[in-house]
Formats: sequence, structure tokens, C-alpha cells
Amino acid sequence: MRIAVIGVGRMGVVHAGTLAALPAVDVLVTDVDRDRARTVAEELGVEAGGDVADAMKASDAVVIAAATDAHAPLVHQAADAELPTFCEKPISLDVASTAEVVAHVRDAGIPFQMGFQRRFDGGYRAAHDLVAGGGLGTLYVVRMAGHDPAPPHEAYIPVSGGIFKDFSVHDFDALRFVTGQEVVETYADGAVIGFPVFEKYGDVDTAVATFRLSGGAFGILSVTRHDPLGYDVRMELLGSGDSVVVGWDARMPLRSVEPEGTPAPADPYPQFQARFAAAYRAEMEWFVELAAGRRESPCTAEDALEALRIAVACDRSRAEHRPVRVEEVG
Ligand SMILES: NC(=O)c1ccc[n+]([C@@H]2O[C@H](COP(=O)([O-])OP(=O)(O)OC[C@H]3O[C@@H](n4cnc5c(N)ncnc54)[C@H](O)[C@@H]3O)[C@@H](O)[C@H]2O)c1
Repeated sequence: MRIAVIGVGRMGVVHAGTLAALPAVDVLVTDVDRDRARTVAEELGVEAGGDVADAMKASDAVVIAAATDAHAPLVHQAADAELPTFCEKPISLDVASTAEVVAHVRDAGIPFQMGFQRRFDGGYRAAHDLVAGGGLGTLYVVRMAGHDPAPPHEAYIPVSGGIFKDFSVHDFDALRFVTGQEVVETYADGAVIGFPVFEKYGDVDTAVATFRLSGGAFGILSVTRHDPLGYDVRMELLGSGDSVVVGWDARMPLRSVEPEGTPAPADPYPQFQARFAAAYRAEMEWFVELAAGRRESPCTAEDALEALRIAVACDRSRAEHRPVRVEEVG
């Protein structure tokens, strides 16, 4: 099977590298930055494609890892070409154009997988299985933390969509995936506390949100653009039958201040690539099976739309200082 990886920046290189290591796959990389495509192709020992249309014509499936604003047009193009498609998150930053893509993907009937890699992380999967198997009993509360080690560079801030759409969207998808419940209502707030540059773009560096879930449980999220100890992504679940946490291992960037407590790890997760390396590999391996018609999509375009609607509800709640029901959003 020949797979075109479109856009080979930070994420595209990771995905192209995973695919290049699979014996059943030939990889072709393409990027609007032709030099970049050539360099990556040489480094990975794969083929460099020409423009996107040619790359699609020459391929059996596509992995879209280009910049965010290119995702929706590229998925439309792939759907027209009837190609199995993997799309990095998000499909787009607005609900209307995401819904158009969802409809096109559905009408074209192409196999489609979103890049919410946490669904392939061992911890999130174990939590999902525990909830689904009844081991957690009645779910009371889910507490999520998403702490980036350092803010992105300034040029990224205005095109990111803001902290909820850019970063927390992974937590929103994970919340739905693990609990099997939908977010009914949110109340969110945020502020610029450490990095004034976010103010220029109406964004924040620190935010919080609470959620009412369809099954009766509550969710709580904290999200920051700076964590002095590293990249910290956690989800704690408390139910009538158990109390568990995702993301607590020997590299968790957190230290106890108890006299006998656990000190800061020597080798904390520095960024998302390290924390989710295995999950990124697993999602690509799954996509190859999906493209071959041997598996179902683990994360659909509809899932991307739902995560985006929660992010939009959080943005609205923050802006208007009021609880927002997700059904208000598109
Ligand atoms: N799943 C995750 O954990 C995760 C992590 C980081 C980024 N992402 C997503 O991955 C996408 C890429 O992020 P990145 O950090 O790799 O960005 P990046 O800026 O490092 O790379 C983007 C690449 O896309 C290329 N490009 C832009 N428009 C294109 C087009 N129309 N056709 C072909 N190539 C095009 C650029 O030249 C660049 O090389 C973003 O949408 C981002 O949201 C996901």
C-alpha cells in the first residue's frame, strides 16, 4: 500500500517515520515547502512527491499532517478522490466547515480516522476499558490536567484557535472516549497569568473548566501553557468501585512535598512527542489496517466535531462568564 503523508512538519515527520518502518507500506511525502519534503524524504529513505494532487493520484491512502488551515480543503480533496484518510486534529477551527467535512466524508463513504492519539495510549485505553467493563462503578468525577512545558512561539498563537481548541480538544475527546458520556454543559474561565503575549491575541495561558456529563458525572479541567517540571497530561477518575489515574508513571512531572513523598522524576516527559510516542505509532498502524478495510475507525469525523463543539462552548463560557450548554453550539 502506498500512503502519501501531506505536510511533514513536526507531526508529519513522526507519522512518515512510523509508516516508513512498516514493511507493507510505501511512503511518499509532500509539503508546500518542497525543500522540506525532499529533506525529510532523504532522511527517512522514502519518496518525495510533487504537488498534493499528484501525490493523491499516486497513492492508496493519505495522512494529512499539514498546518491546521489546510486540513478541511485537503480532506475534501481526499474525499473527492475516494481515498482512505487520516487527518491530524483539528478538521478545522470552526463548526460550520467541520460539519461540511463530516458530511462529505460520510457521503463519500471513505475510511476516515482523526488524529486523537490518546485513544491509543495504554493508560487512557485501560481507563476506557475499566469504565466500559463496570469496574469503576458509578462514575462521580473526572479530573483532567493538561500542562504544556512552555508556551508555543508567538506566530503560532493567532493561528492555534486558542487554548481550548488547540490543546484541550484532546482532553475533550478523551473525556468522551473514556467515560462514554457526552458533555452537556460547561463553565470555563481563563486568564493571562505568566505570558503577556497571549493577551495580544485574545488568548490565555491558563484556563479551567467544569463539565456536567450526560450520565450524571462531573468533569474538571486545568490547562496551562507552562509547567516548570515538564509535559503533564493526567486524567483521574473516581467512581463507586475504584479510583484511578491516567498519566501517573515514573516520568510524571509532579513531586510530592510530603516528608516521605515521591520526589520529582529524574527524566520527566519533556513534551508531547515523548509522552505519546507509542500512541502515535499505534494510531498509524491502526490506520493502515483501516485503509486496507480490515478495521473500523477508532475515531471518526463526527468525534472531531463533538470535541470542537465542547471547545467552542468553553470559549463562549469564558467570554461571556456564564455556563454554556453544548447544544447551544451549532
Ligand atoms: N495529535 C497531536 O498531538 C498533535 C501535536 C502537534 C500538532 N498536531 C497537529 O498537526 C498539524 C501540524 O502541526 P505541526 O506541529 O506538525 O506543524 P508544522 O508547522 O511543524 O508543520 C506543518 C507543515 O505543513 C506544511 N503545509 C502547510 N500547508 C500545507 C499544504 N496545503 N499542503 C502541504 N503541506 C502544507 C508546512 O509547510 C509545514 O511543513 C496541526 O494541525 C496540529 O494541530 C497534532
